[in-house]
Amino acid sequence: LIDHFQPKPLAGRRVLLTAGPTFEAIDPVRGITNLSSGRMGYALARACREAGAEVTLVSGPVHLQRPHRVVRIETSSALEMREEVMRHAAHCDVFIGVAAVADYRPETMSMQKIKKKGSPPAIKLVENPDILAEVAALAKPPFCVGFAAESEQLGENAEAKRQRKGIPLIVGNLVQESLGSDQATLTLFDDEGRHPLPVAPKIELARQIVARIANLLEPR
Ligand code: CTP
Ligand code: CA
Repeated sequence: LIDHFQPKPLAGRRVLLTAGPTFEAIDPVRGITNLSSGRMGYALARACREAGAEVTLVSGPVHLQRPHRVVRIETSSALEMREEVMRHAAHCDVFIGVAAVADYRPETMSMQKIKKKGSPPAIKLVENPDILAEVAALAKPPFCVGFAAESEQLGENAEAKRQRKGIPLIVGNLVQESLGSDQATLTLFDDEGRHPLPVAPKIELARQIVARIANLLEPR
């Protein structure tokens, strides 16, 4: 492992992240999901580790290897992801929500494969919990970082989301330019304003985000 951070700005800190999509089952062979490769979240987990943090990564279903010396917890649905996050959230210094959590899930999962017959079935959806907002609302919340995947008006939407969720830092992401690519177009929004990052590979961007987090963290 090359030392990209020297000294280690997150030494002695515990970081919890979510990454990847969630999968909300309709029946044993079908479900609702979001497009997300998990690459940005995994790159951030790696960058946090490089910066000296102890890292736990709660991952949705992805095709990626566990980053070196990162504890990975594999989950599928938003409810499972939330359970694992809440189990660890009280013990971490930083929480970074990178997962593309499905906003809705089918109210019930059919235990049998739904057969094609007559008219199309209606699938009733219910809202999933907002994992990031729940962590941010804890009595003693960790330093919370969100991602805002937007397809338009990145600035307005991302800053509004930061305020709504009550978090100090949000990373705005134009999805057309980032999805499935190894590069991304990101802008950081915090109390000091907006900071666009030059287009770069995700691991480079992850290191810059980690450097910003380390700067904003309360010294101990
Ligand atoms: N997030 C979460 N749990 C959810 C939905 C979102 O933890 N149920 C987190 C994501 O991981 C991300 C941030 O919230 O860090 C923003 O997600 P996004 O989908 O952009 O925002 P939403 O609040 O869901 O708003 P919308 O989808 O309407 O833009
Ligand atoms: Ca959403």
